[in-house]
Amino acid sequence: MLTQQELKQQAADAALALIEPLIGPDVVIGVGTGSTADLFIDGLARFKGRLRGTVASSERSAARLAGHGLAVLDLNDVTAMPVYVDGADEIDARLHMIKGGGGALTREKIVASVAERFICIADESKLVERLGGFPLPVEVIPMARQAVARALAALGGQPRLRDGFTTDNGNVILDVAGLRIDDAPALEAAVNNLPGVVTCGLFARAGADVALLATQDGVRRLDRA
Ligand code: 5RP
Repeated sequence: MLTQQELKQQAADAALALIEPLIGPDVVIGVGTGSTADLFIDGLARFKGRLRGTVASSERSAARLAGHGLAVLDLNDVTAMPVYVDGADEIDARLHMIKGGGGALTREKIVASVAERFICIADESKLVERLGGFPLPVEVIPMARQAVARALAALGGQPRLRDGFTTDNGNVILDVAGLRIDDAPALEAAVNNLPGVVTCGLFARAGADVALLATQDGVRRLDRA
């Protein structure tokens, strides 16, 4: 029986194998945040000197990449990225995701938006029939915290301030339990539209293109229909 850590490692290894043919001196790889992304970063070190560099979705990942001697580029200096590789808190069969358990959702969404393909790496426990068991992280500008919390409650959620946490962008996170997510792209747009919201952790309007989900029987690949 493989442990969750071993499953995460398998998913990270599968992503490294998938991107290996893309590696070249002009290539920039987008890198996510979290314990699964950390394993991907550690493996990416083997391509040091064979890549132009990486773009990180958090200060934490940037530090880990730099620690391996991998170049970390400013997104403003990058026009194209073939792939962005990151974990998820939940993913469904349509490859819609909830992300932001690590609080890096905004930069994750920005870096992913520049990449041609989003490869999601996770252990099989992240695959759900219906999104919403994991409270939806919402990054909010501090002065709007209460106003946004009231608006999220009006949408049927129970928002809770993530205690003692400030994002890399200087904002706060509301974790919203109890949302009924029937139409993830519509809810993503509705939440993102609330004044004071920077972005929410629904990645549905642009979900993953490929999911590599590690199971006890090997890595299962799902492609967006
Ligand atoms: C961070 C994220 C992560 O991808 C998500 O929390 C999954 O993390 P892990 O790989 O540690 O389970 O969205 O903001």
